[in-house]
Amino acid sequence: MISSITLLAQSAIEQELAVTLVAHFASAAEVYPPALLPPEVEYHIITADGSLGEQGALREVLGDYLAWADAACCSVSRETAVVLYSTFERMRGRNFAQALVLRPLVCASGVCLSCSFETHSGVKVICRDGPVFDLREVARSVTI
Ligand code: FES
Repeated sequence: MISSITLLAQSAIEQELAVTLVAHFASAAEVYPPALLPPEVEYHIITADGSLGEQGALREVLGDYLAWADAACCSVSRETAVVLYSTFERMRGRNFAQALVLRPLVCASGVCLSCSFETHSGVKVICRDGPVFDLREVARSVTI
């Protein structure tokens, strides 16, 4: 999912914004290669097994960055979106965090409804209404 967010990082850099990418992987073998990122991106690697970068979980590290970030752009599973939303008050702020929701698109025109997606404010189709949604819309639609 990181490859989908690198274009956003490139766009932010072109606007002279500071970009930090905090990414979690199971192990070093799965790490997105730093060489594929723009050199201006600060890249914080977390691995579950500690084989590269910092060992731990995303929620254990993210708080350090949220204190000074102007925005958070998340490319995570819905389950992780719920965890981040529940853990960090900052992630619950209006217009602070966005979530990229990815699924295969069949018609890509809002007709087949194969990409329908439950949000807090009702069913949306990713191809027409997204793929970027307010994190609050994604996380609050799930009962935990
Ligand atoms: S892909 Fe068909 S409605 Fe989105």
